[in-house]
Amino acid sequence: FNRKLLSFSWRLKLTSDNLDSQNASPRSFGIDYNNNYFLKDGKPFRYISGSIHYSRVPRYYWKDRLLKMKMAGLDAIQTYVPWNYHEFEPGVYNFSDDRDIEYFLKLANETGLLVILRAGPYICAEWDMGGLPAWLLKKESVILRSSDSDYLAAVDRWMGVLLPKMKPLLYQNGGPIIMVQIENEYGSYFACDYDYLRYLQRLFHHHLGNEVVLFTTDGASKSYLRCGALQGLYATVDFPPGSNVTAAFLSQRGSEPRGPLVNSEFYTGWLDHWGHPHAVVPTERIAKSLDEILARGANVNMYMFIGGTNFAYWNGANMPYASQPTSYDYDAPLSEAGDLTDKYFSLRGVIGRYKHLPEGPIPPTTPKYAYGQVAMQKLGTVAELLSDLSPAGPIKSTYPLTFVQLKQYFGFVLYRTTLPKNYSEPTPLFSPTNGVHDRAYVSVDGVPQGVLERGKSYMINITGTAGANLDVLVENMGRVNYGRYNNDFKGLVSNLSLGQVTLVDWEMYPLDIDSVVSQGLNSRDDESETSGGNPSSYAAPAFYIGRFSIPSGIPDLPQDTFIKFPGWTKGQIWINGFNLGRYWPVRGPQVTLFVPSNILVSSSLNNITVLELEQSPCGIQKCAIEFVDKPVINATLQYGSNTRKLFTKELWLDPL
Ligand SMILES: *[C@@H]1O[C@H](CO)[C@@H](O)[C@H](O)[C@H]1NC(C)=O
Ligand SMILES: *[C@@H]1O[C@H](CO)[C@@H](O)[C@H](O)[C@H]1NC(C)=O
Ligand SMILES: *[C@@H]1O[C@H](CO)[C@@H](O)[C@H](O)[C@H]1NC(C)=O
Ligand SMILES: *[C@@H]1O[C@H](CO)[C@@H](O)[C@H](O)[C@H]1NC(C)=O
Ligand SMILES: *[C@@H]1O[C@H](CO)[C@@H](O)[C@H](O)[C@H]1NC(C)=O
Ligand SMILES: *[C@@H]1O[C@H](CO)[C@@H](O)[C@H](O)[C@H]1NC(C)=O
Ligand SMILES: *[C@@H]1O[C@H](CO)[C@@H](O)[C@H](O)[C@H]1NC(C)=O
Ligand SMILES: *[C@@H]1O[C@H](CO)[C@@H](O)[C@H](O)[C@H]1NC(C)=O
Repeated sequence: FNRKLLSFSWRLKLTSDNLDSQNASPRSFGIDYNNNYFLKDGKPFRYISGSIHYSRVPRYYWKDRLLKMKMAGLDAIQTYVPWNYHEFEPGVYNFSDDRDIEYFLKLANETGLLVILRAGPYICAEWDMGGLPAWLLKKESVILRSSDSDYLAAVDRWMGVLLPKMKPLLYQNGGPIIMVQIENEYGSYFACDYDYLRYLQRLFHHHLGNEVVLFTTDGASKSYLRCGALQGLYATVDFPPGSNVTAAFLSQRGSEPRGPLVNSEFYTGWLDHWGHPHAVVPTERIAKSLDEILARGANVNMYMFIGGTNFAYWNGANMPYASQPTSYDYDAPLSEAGDLTDKYFSLRGVIGRYKHLPEGPIPPTTPKYAYGQVAMQKLGTVAELLSDLSPAGPIKSTYPLTFVQLKQYFGFVLYRTTLPKNYSEPTPLFSPTNGVHDRAYVSVDGVPQGVLERGKSYMINITGTAGANLDVLVENMGRVNYGRYNNDFKGLVSNLSLGQVTLVDWEMYPLDIDSVVSQGLNSRDDESETSGGNPSSYAAPAFYIGRFSIPSGIPDLPQDTFIKFPGWTKGQIWINGFNLGRYWPVRGPQVTLFVPSNILVSSSLNNITVLELEQSPCGIQKCAIEFVDKPVINATLQYGSNTRKLFTKELWLDPL
């Protein structure tokens, strides 16, 4: 780091007509290529930043998390914009409540944090389809993240909505955004389409002006930067703790011979997959590398500073297909629930060696409350409740249609056909091409038969009589978010065979569970048969409900809590209509789910709705879920050879 900063011969990027802009405007942000640092208001500037994704933290807690980040000594936050979180159907947008990105950015500004905006269109992020809306797949041959004209038309329309909202929030316009990232790790994608990057560059400048600093991020090696970097977009790199920092930044120098050194994703932890041990990255290793990066005068963004939660269905997946759990704790300095950790204080200590830490108290860890057990009661199976869950009724087709063809992008679809003849002997039901995306719960006339799972369980035997209903409830477990398998169609994406026969004449019921649950699936009085204990290891997918009240006379309730699922297998849970996400304690490593206090009420009973897909404890043992005050996301179950190396993304590029 050249500390002889005061030779003022800098040159602002992209402003050759405009060399005196730092005098013209009191607020400016640019790059000094002569002295290898950023320039903020005409002065040398280096940032220490941390990632927080507003889509993974309830709005209620945004301020708390941002303050904790500020108090750690951060100058800036980095956030992704998940396109599919905002444009659910083509041309239908949502920027309200938890999706109010402008409010989030204003809060950051108010907290004294600058913003590094990763605007997409693709973000990766362990987010469903890397943030791309599934409806892009309506054109089945679409080449995502390329100059494909239909893809670009959709990008154009979306950026025409998003970027004008961001423009007034740019630093030079009085807001917090100092830099805007284009695409994400594009050099890791097969398309290597420079015209696409150039298109995005023009589009972003068109909406945001020419002064804005646009940048890219790629893995710290020549091979990634080759297709990821483009003249006019400032090339930054990402690398994990324990890297050779000199070598990593040398790879950035291969693309940017001059200018500030930037690690845009310095990993404070790592992601999880269901069925693999919880990733843990020791604090000492991170502290040491962070110190090395800062000592060099480089800029850094810690990914994640707080991971948060994949509520509802928002998790992504990697290949060979493995989906990410609901918790995105990431072993980050602030836990999923925003708790201060030893890692937080250690990294704050490292930062304190390089800058003055802000004065004042650090917001404390929020208290957690163990509300205890809540008895659950069976409401009915999916098949029994079908007319409520799928009010529009089925769509019929000879061969199965995908979720996208059914315009059902998330959750569950029930595929139903009838058995063409008697099957008194166990007969294999299978998808010859691994076309069950991603998990199917199979029953015949309500009798559970087993589970098919993408990449894991290709075949089950079934029995039944001619004309019986064969129900295949298919769960979308999250779309692949990285690599060339982004075009991840869901549902039965190929035919199912029963013995020698290809099954035909399907009725497909798109299930609108979220609307039905928030309108009160729980309020039904006609509680149908409770079939009680089922000796087989599967039961037909079914809904269960429970109610609980927040104790009175205890101050500061409701508080955050965690749900445990004693005896439950796999499913989805809602409280007061809020979709908390998937639970799968038997596969792990996540065992409990985070419940933010803002979804709980103390004025009336709280409603819990559970969709259990395999086997509930009801009828066998005490049938309850339990609220506890400590998370368990690191269960040591039997993982076999299912370990994945930390920090290696290459492995996800080609499925085995
Ligand atoms: C928009 O998103 C918010 C926050 O998740 C949600 O509460 C609201 O219902 C959504 N609005 C629509 C029209 O879907
Ligand atoms: C950002 O904060 C500054 C004060 O630090 C204030 O002057 C400015 O108006 C704020 N901008 C926005 C967009 O809220
Ligand atoms: C780190 O990388 C640099 C540049 O490639 C090299 O000179 C140095 O020997 C490496 N250090 C270690 C400890 O491997
Ligand atoms: C199928 O089985 C049922 C009862 O198990 C029997 O009544 C029926 O005749 C059988 N049908 C055929 C086509 O074999
Ligand atoms: C299916 O049934 C066949 C014949 O009864 C048996 O050999 C095979 O092991 C069974 N497969 C499974 C997965 O149960
Ligand atoms: C199912 O099989 C039919 C007949 O072979 C074929 O036309 C159709 O494309 C297949 N459908 C899927 C989804 O693979
Ligand atoms: C719980 O469900 C009942 C019955 O549907 C409803 O009246 C009540 O408003 C719900 N409570 C909350 C907090 O949503
Ligand atoms: C899981 O995490 C908890 C709290 O973070 C810790 O106390 C416990 O030792 C961990 N268990 C395992 C098996 O690593």
